[in-house]
Amino acid sequence: MAVTKQKQPETILPHGGKLVNRELIGAQKQSYLNKLNSLQSLQLDAWSLSDLELIAIGGFSPLTGFMGQADYTRVIEETRLEDGTIWSIPITLPVTEEQAESFEIGSTIALIGEDNVFYGVLELEEKYTYDKEKEASLVYGTTDPAHPGVKKLYERGEVYLAGPIYLLNRPSHGNFEDFYFDPSETRKLFADLGWKTVVGFQTRNPVHRAHEYIQKCALESVDGLLLNPLVGETKSDDISAEIRMESYQVILKNYYPVNRTRLVVYPAAMRYAGPKEAILHAIVRKNYGCTHFIVGRDHAGVGDYYGTYEAQELISEFEEELGIQIFKFEHAFYCTTCENMGTEKTCPHGKESHVHLSGTKVREKLRNGEELPKEFSRPEVAAVLIKGMK
Ligand code: ADX
Repeated sequence: MAVTKQKQPETILPHGGKLVNRELIGAQKQSYLNKLNSLQSLQLDAWSLSDLELIAIGGFSPLTGFMGQADYTRVIEETRLEDGTIWSIPITLPVTEEQAESFEIGSTIALIGEDNVFYGVLELEEKYTYDKEKEASLVYGTTDPAHPGVKKLYERGEVYLAGPIYLLNRPSHGNFEDFYFDPSETRKLFADLGWKTVVGFQTRNPVHRAHEYIQKCALESVDGLLLNPLVGETKSDDISAEIRMESYQVILKNYYPVNRTRLVVYPAAMRYAGPKEAILHAIVRKNYGCTHFIVGRDHAGVGDYYGTYEAQELISEFEEELGIQIFKFEHAFYCTTCENMGTEKTCPHGKESHVHLSGTKVREKLRNGEELPKEFSRPEVAAVLIKGMK
């Protein structure tokens, strides 16, 4: 009897066409482990370790290593890799001048974590100095050392090491292991769920009512929502990933359709680079298999460094070529007259009726021990946050 082949849902191509996998297993991994004692080593901070992981698991496809000078220069100047592929944020490995001198081009460097685990190797092809102010101004749009991304850049080493990497051990994700899927796994997950269209949502905050509103507006026109919070390094006054993850589970359980949403962590460091980071965020979600991505107001912004819709404007310039569709949302608020969420597009009432929401406001209220009104936050989420802050 002939068996009819089940039709697979169409999947979105990874950025650059092929999902990168630089993770070594079995004999290949063992051969590096065997020569560990003969290799020079470099200790990675949490930021570089998460970059290593994201390159290896394909989140940063088509990158296969830390960027060399040609890619780096074109990325900061033209938002493209050397071969023309859109890329907006340099993925680089900074070291001090003394460290850089100690490594020979052509050598294999063991990459060790702060926990002394041997995570991977770098095949050193290039080392180059760079202009921090130029990078700050082109990527972050400011040279102000008070900007958290710029501050980080100024603190890091003076020389970039570049070349292909391999991952030997995945970093542990502690309590989040159940929510850790690599891009090949989310792609399979979406196919198994029968989702042909999936909207990705980036956040570094608990989900407040405006987030929920824009996610659900998007979900009205696609099959599934990937709630994909960033759980790598964030600035110290952001709410911790542990507390946020608990709040995400609570809101999904109480207010979202279980068969149309999935929570998966995005193990990256936050750059706060606004418009440029919005492009990176979209590319990564494309690699995870999303067909759509949400960019709302002041995406990945901090303070007053970026205009409310600057991220939307920049990503619009690249959208056709990016290969993932962008859902753009205006600043959403709660309207006390409509008794509903809305934006200027959908609500006719004046400012006196509008309660504006933001992660910053939620954090401020929590810090001052104030209640989170229901227009801001679902009560179940507020309870988790208040407990967490204690
Ligand atoms: S961040 O990672 O982009 O910094 P944040 O939690 O602040 O995370 O925002 C997540 C997403 O929701 C972003 O696309 C942002 O633009 C959007 N967003 C946040 N608040 C609002 C709001 N009140 N109205 C519309 N979009 C919003």
